[in-house]
Order: sequence, then C-alpha cells, then structure tokens
Amino acid sequence: VHSYLEESIRPFIDLIDTLRSVGIQKDLALPTIAVIGDQSSGKSSVLEALSGVALPRGSGIVTRCPLELRLKKVTGGANWKAVLSYHKKRTEFVDPSFVAGPIKAGKLANGKVAYPTYDLKKFEFGDPSLVEEHVAAAQNELAGKGVGICDELITLEVMSPDVCDLTLIDLPGIARVPVKGQPEDIGNQIKLLIMKYIEKQETINLVVVPCNTDIATTEALQMAQEVDPEGRRTVAILTKPDLIDKGTEKDILAIVHNKVIPLRKGYIMVKCRGQQQIDEKIPLEEATQIERDFFQNHDYFRDLLNEDKATIKCLAVKLTQNLVDHIKKSLPQLSQQIKKKLWDVKNELKEYETGPPEDLKGAKQFLTESAIQKS
Ligand code: GDP
Ligand code: NA
Ligand code: MG
Repeated sequence: VHSYLEESIRPFIDLIDTLRSVGIQKDLALPTIAVIGDQSSGKSSVLEALSGVALPRGSGIVTRCPLELRLKKVTGGANWKAVLSYHKKRTEFVDPSFVAGPIKAGKLANGKVAYPTYDLKKFEFGDPSLVEEHVAAAQNELAGKGVGICDELITLEVMSPDVCDLTLIDLPGIARVPVKGQPEDIGNQIKLLIMKYIEKQETINLVVVPCNTDIATTEALQMAQEVDPEGRRTVAILTKPDLIDKGTEKDILAIVHNKVIPLRKGYIMVKCRGQQQIDEKIPLEEATQIERDFFQNHDYFRDLLNEDKATIKCLAVKLTQNLVDHIKKSLPQLSQQIKKKLWDVKNELKEYETGPPEDLKGAKQFLTESAIQKS
C-alpha cells in the first residue's frame, strides 16, 4: 500500500478501532469488512494472504466463531506481535442489594440473584505460528469442542510492519448438509449468524466465490444482494482461477467485467496457495510472485492485471480505500448515534439524581425501586 494512502487512512481506521476497543460496538454498529462464502471457497486463504497470518483451516467447518482480525501496520523496526481476546460469559450469584443496575430475568438461588457477567480473556504472543492454536483454543471454550458454532466474537489484533491497516471478520462458511454431531438446522444457524453481520449498513461484504463453481447461483452472493440490493457495499472475490475447466475462461471474464451479475463495486480475481503449496510450505512472499506469474502468463486473464481486477495486492489496496470511504460516510451518522446515546444516558441519570438515602434500609429500597423501574 502506497505511503500517502496510509497516512490519509490511518486516522480513520484508528478511530474505529479505538471505539471498538472500548466496547462501543455493543451499542453502535461500526464499519468493518466481513468475509462470507461457502465452506472451502477460500475465505481463510484470502484472509491469510491479506494479513500474512496463518489462520486455522481445513476441509470441514474450521471457523466456528466470528473472528475479528485487526491488522495494524507498525513502523520503526517493531517485531510481529498479536493479542487474542474474547469475552467468556459467566453467571454470578449475588445478593440482590449488590445489583445497582437493572436486574433482568434474575433466577433465585439461595435468595441470590443470577447476574450475567463477562470475563475478558486475553493472550499476547510474538510467534505467528501460535495463531492457529490460540484461535482453536478460544473456539473450543466458546463453542465447545467439536463441530458446533457460536455467536461470540474472538478478536485477534496483529501488529506487524508487513500488514496493511484493515479490520476483517471471518465468519463460519455456509454448509448445507450437517455432519455428525451437528444439529439438523446448522445451515440455518450459520446463515442467521452471517446475516447478523452482513445486514449492518456499516459492513462491507466480501463475498468469496470459487471460479470453478456456478457463480450465478452462489448462496453467499445472493445473501449479500438481499441485504444490499444496490451493491453499494458488496465486493466479490473470485478464487481458484487455476482450477477452472478449459473452455469456461470467457464466461468467467464476462463475470469479472460485470456483465452477468453487475455489482457496483465489482469483482477481483485472486489466486491463493493450493493445498499442495501449503503442504510444501511455500512462503507467502513466494506465493505473491507465483500469483503474478500466473496472471502474466495466462492467455485470458493477463489483461486483468492492467485493469486492476486481479491479485491479492490489488485487493488489499481496494479494500483499504473502500473501508476509508465507508468510514468517512458513516461518521456523521455515527456522531448522531453517539449524541443520542449520550442524551438517553443523561436522562436516565437524572432519574437517580437524588441518590440513595443515608440509612441502609432506605438505600436498599431506593436501589430495588431503581432496578424494578429499569427492568
Ligand atoms: P475456507 O473454508 O473458505 O476458509 O477455504 P480455505 O481457505 O481453507 O481453502 C480451501 C482449500 O482451497 C484449501 O485447500 C486451499 O489451499 C484451497 N485454495 C484456496 N484458494 C485457492 C486457489 O486460488 N487455488 C487453488 N488451487 N487452491 C486454493
Ligand atoms: Na474450510
Ligand atoms: Mg476457513
């Protein structure tokens, strides 16, 4: 990514990350990029190539919780560093008089009130090869061991000189047939989870579609079109161009040129590492060169290089620019939302302005009444 671009985008992305880190996304939707697609369409490969971070992958359901990948470019010879964090829900049983806020659906046990709290779990590490292990452990704790899924977000912040400033969310892949141990409605569960992310106006939807499938009938693309009919925030990525059947090149070119399913933000074709190249441990830098060579030597796809419609690098630049445009557009709305929240909270505070009475009995009654009023 060109440095002038970096300077102009950094403040926006930092602002959003700061807002997110103070937990504001619980109340407001923040701009971000969500990656969606069928299982094994190449989502993790695209994320890996963009981030330089080796994520867990495999042929089955590997991503079982939403994973937020926050990439931060650091300068000044800093080393690679990552922080993985998530919130683990826990129920505490407390004396009702300890609960100053609203008590919702409190269950009584020994006269105590069930009070849901979240423990923040945080792991910092400096070895990129530990990412898979940490993500897998977090998923096991949130979604249980096995093949279940879960809505709770895992956040992985990666600080490195070799990444571009992007925040991406990897979501479980769409699957139609449940595997052993999965509920019958797993397909629906995954689609609901995906919908929760992609329906937000603030989200840029990155739809990953393999070139060697029937692109027009791709469910992920249909879901994105459903929530974004005008295609203002949908970008399609065509993967696995090295695996297409001979004779289908022109049909695929027509799609990339927006002639079949027109998308306002268009298509980008990328070639990532295949399973064999992963097994051979071909480094990402070499994969970037292999990708370039692939397009340069391709009879049909060569021109896509000049048209800025091919390679991971081109995708990274486009995404960053898209995200910044999107953040700029959302800022006035975000500011409105924050003002309204502030106003609501101030009003709420007014109700408690008199404060609890001095004596213990009166104080308890005040708190109980406040709690009842709120629930
Ligand atoms: P996900 O389930 O959507 O996250 O898909 P993965 O990223 O795990 O990819 C599934 C398989 O497709 C892996 O074996 C990848 O190596 C392979 N793959 C991904 N992209 C490409 C590509 O551009 N070309 C080839 N040949 N294989 C790819
Ligand atoms: Na997979
Ligand atoms: Mg994956």
